[in-house]
Amino acid sequence: MASTTYTVGLPEHRRWAELLSWGPAGIEDGPSPLVNVGRTPYLTEADGAPVEYAPFGLRPFSGADLVAGPVGAARESWWSFDSASSTDTSLRLTFGDELTGLRTDLYYEVVAGTDVLLRWTELTNTGSAPIRLERFDSAGFCVPVEHARLSFLIGRWAQEFQLRHVELPAGRFEIGSRQGVAGHGYSPWLAVQDAFDDGPTWGFSLAWPGSWRIDADIELSGTCRVRVGRQPHESAVLLEPGASFETPQVAAAYSAEGLGGLARVWHSYEHKLSPGGRRVLYNSWEATEFAVDAAGQLELAKVAAEVGAELFVVDDGWFVGRNDDTGGLGDWTPDPAKFPNGFGAFIEDVRALGLEFGLWVEPEAVSPKSRLYAEHPDWVYHLDGRPPTLIRNQLLLDLGREDVHDFVLSTLDGLLTEYPIRYLKWDMNRPPTERGRPGAGDPESLDLDGAHARNYLRILDHLRAAHPDVAIEGCAGGGARVELATIARTDVVWPSDNTGPLDRLAIQYGFLHAHAPHVMSSWVTDAAGLFDPRPRSLRFRFVLAMAGALGIGADIRSWTPTQRSEAAGYVAQYKELREFLHSAAVTMIGTPTDPTFALQYTGPDQVVVLAWNTGPLDGTPALSGRSTRLRLSGLDPAARYGSYGGAHLMSAGLPVSWESVDADVIVLERS
Ligand code: DGJ
Repeated sequence: MASTTYTVGLPEHRRWAELLSWGPAGIEDGPSPLVNVGRTPYLTEADGAPVEYAPFGLRPFSGADLVAGPVGAARESWWSFDSASSTDTSLRLTFGDELTGLRTDLYYEVVAGTDVLLRWTELTNTGSAPIRLERFDSAGFCVPVEHARLSFLIGRWAQEFQLRHVELPAGRFEIGSRQGVAGHGYSPWLAVQDAFDDGPTWGFSLAWPGSWRIDADIELSGTCRVRVGRQPHESAVLLEPGASFETPQVAAAYSAEGLGGLARVWHSYEHKLSPGGRRVLYNSWEATEFAVDAAGQLELAKVAAEVGAELFVVDDGWFVGRNDDTGGLGDWTPDPAKFPNGFGAFIEDVRALGLEFGLWVEPEAVSPKSRLYAEHPDWVYHLDGRPPTLIRNQLLLDLGREDVHDFVLSTLDGLLTEYPIRYLKWDMNRPPTERGRPGAGDPESLDLDGAHARNYLRILDHLRAAHPDVAIEGCAGGGARVELATIARTDVVWPSDNTGPLDRLAIQYGFLHAHAPHVMSSWVTDAAGLFDPRPRSLRFRFVLAMAGALGIGADIRSWTPTQRSEAAGYVAQYKELREFLHSAAVTMIGTPTDPTFALQYTGPDQVVVLAWNTGPLDGTPALSGRSTRLRLSGLDPAARYGSYGGAHLMSAGLPVSWESVDADVIVLERS
């Protein structure tokens, strides 16, 4: 890892592996701060030990990572160490349970050039009876803090990624999703620090697009132990004799520089996962919603080209039967009534304006009013004898089925092959409710959530390989499917349907603690905030979108010539800066509830500051006062940045003036 060490050892008894140290390189040079030097009266030794991963049988009280046993038999399993193998960047530890035949492989992989370690677990049934896996975390982690401050991202639709903190002096904190997606509620992400010190910070992020759980316990021996993993829909998963089961990967990160430093670790990791947004897009959803037709879309496309967009995305409403949210899903054929000269001709008209073409799909969704549902009612999740639940008037395909997987894959392949589509927005607006798969026998043998998530990822992998010039946007009714496995297979992800400026600022602030700017899809719209309806200038909204992958989602037909030319100026400025903004180190200055909030992007030769005035004007210069100053960090104190000295910028701060604008882009060249 770049500057982090994670050291694991086997105690003499070899019954489990222990964490010896996790922190800055060199931390391993001394006695382990994690080792339990006390006794464990009325407990077992493992309950007080900094175990890496332990079965319930071995660690009965403090929290086990694996709860497994043969069907109908005890849930307590034991194991003993079998073997280890390693390379320069990876480690595998194998444990075996002779009685049940359950083999457990713990995997570790360092992500070169980052402070991120990947961990996951493989479970193999080498015995002769099926084994019931009730809990099968990806990994457990011991963090050497006794009184923790936990940071997490909470939300709901239109209010995703709200950064919150909680102090945990004792007890357990748990977050998760049972929605078959990462969910609007919580992100599969957690940061842990000492409650009184924004210094050393440990972080966890799960790469899994299905249901999940993260819990943090303050253990009796005085560490904060974090367990991260899947949460199976059927409450357990069956592992048949001879079968293997791999958990998702959990990424574990360390920074000595607090939550802000941890964010930069996640950013550098996501640079390895995803290319990020490559083009300025226009998306017509907020302008036309379902009222899509060729003439109206072309009118928008002309203005989009005029302001400098590079890509035009037609959102929901382009296919047959889709005039509102009650029909059409599943029948992915362009509506001839909306595109009277043909969809291909419409796309060519868009491309003739110098724009690439993009399309919205919701491949897992089915409307009860659709041909697909009439032909394959058994393809949707349902319970026999019970009426299906509708969410947003729609049902959900059982994507774990091979025939459904093949249908979705061939539908998307077909669209991407028939039309010159360069951008696909994959949406998902309906979490699975009752799942069922009638007639399939023991529900625990199904792992429906796992099968659905794996096929979703498999299809994305296929699209990446078969259509490398198609960029993909991940979306789920806003930001319900933002997690590392999706990010690794897409270019950008959509954080929220709330595009109101001040609301969006808070959403992006939380998002950027866990994810990188280059993957953050961010549109300029006309929308008022849902939670803070104070209007903000066009400039404010553009500078806000520049903090991520800039797009436009407003009804630009109604923008005046002056607004269009102002917008063109911002788009041109963004194009000049985007490569830098998408690769520089980001520092957050303040929070969105401060009167001024800013993001500092630092590179070797340049610093760019995006700043927003979120509060009332302070009265200057009509009244006496001082200019707002933004204290930058991480600069060379002896170097000059624009017309300022580095020491000045880090102590006195960068002056910003809110006299005539409510947002600013300040570019400082280093000399
Ligand atoms: C939810 C998405 O988050 C929106 O951006 C839009 O694509 C709608 N779905 C379309 O139905």
